[in-house]
Amino acid sequence: MPASPRLHDFAQRVCDWQRQHGRHHLPWQGTRDPYRVWLSEIMLQQTQVSTVIPYYERFLARFPDITTLARAAQEEVMAHWAGLGYYARARNLHRCAQVVVAEHDGRFPTTSEAIATLPGIGRSTAAAIAAFCWGERSPIMDGNVRRVFTRYFGIHGFPGLRAVEQQLWALAEQAVEQASAPLDMGVYTQGLMDLGAQVCTRGKPQCAACPLASDCHARLHGLQQVLPEPRPKRVVPERHCAMLLLHGHGHVLLEKQPENGLWGGLWSLPRYDSREALVSDCQARGVAHAEKGRMASFVHTFTHFRLHIEPWMLEASSLDTETRPGERWIPFELLADTATPAPVKALLESLPPA
Ligand code: ADE
Repeated sequence: MPASPRLHDFAQRVCDWQRQHGRHHLPWQGTRDPYRVWLSEIMLQQTQVSTVIPYYERFLARFPDITTLARAAQEEVMAHWAGLGYYARARNLHRCAQVVVAEHDGRFPTTSEAIATLPGIGRSTAAAIAAFCWGERSPIMDGNVRRVFTRYFGIHGFPGLRAVEQQLWALAEQAVEQASAPLDMGVYTQGLMDLGAQVCTRGKPQCAACPLASDCHARLHGLQQVLPEPRPKRVVPERHCAMLLLHGHGHVLLEKQPENGLWGGLWSLPRYDSREALVSDCQARGVAHAEKGRMASFVHTFTHFRLHIEPWMLEASSLDTETRPGERWIPFELLADTATPAPVKALLESLPPA
């Protein structure tokens, strides 16, 4: 029977691996200065280490401590961030510095719980800062770490779902609580980050180099490409309609669409919920052989639904038939200058010559 994932030596295996194979010379390592650690963690959100390094160094050269940052003009802070992206991070960073100076005497709070109340700092970032600076036993759970946990423990479901996220945090807590040997939280936290970034990668995980491979659920079951599961695809509702392409004497019947509905303000063809409704309306208009006008159906995709369109082309013997509110007989030669939705424009091209 294959081994199953286990908690009691999970953290130790990650630490042993980090000491031997992890990263040790990043510019924000070897310091317990919460200002530097915090700055690096914010810059590293959604951004690769190699991109961050020059920004981090330039930023620190200009804003060497939290008081300098708090007092700087926002424009100058933004200028030092320009190119890193996700600019809300920079605005929050600046605000956070001002809060720490105004409300905490310029000193970072020393527990992850207090740190997580500051602007722009979530639970995982707060835990990382507390672990690196004070060795607090609070686990992290960022994108890289989610990959390690979902694969090793075999967690199915999209990790953005509340229930899955809670399951992951619970495992992360247990891995710290059940560690059988004393745990260096700085090494463990860095180890998880390094493992996720360098070994348990998204596309091609390097299982041969992984300290967790022997009992990793995903590796044992060949699920490395399945876990973590992607965001479920939105189910797009399907709607159906019939459309009337009624023409005669070089004109076609169009209907101005109400401003706040589908194709609001454009000129479209009369539309019906069903084929039967269209046929009976044609009979009411005195159109002969309505049942013979059916054309090939097609689908038009909107952001929120797919519309199956069944067009019917029929000929009116005269233009004297009463038109409904919003309807108008438009001469063929004006169609090119009439605002019509794309699928209707395509249908109008199949009209016979005038
Ligand atoms: N990504 C997030 N935090 C990191 C860190 N401290 N080192 C390397 N990559 C990271």
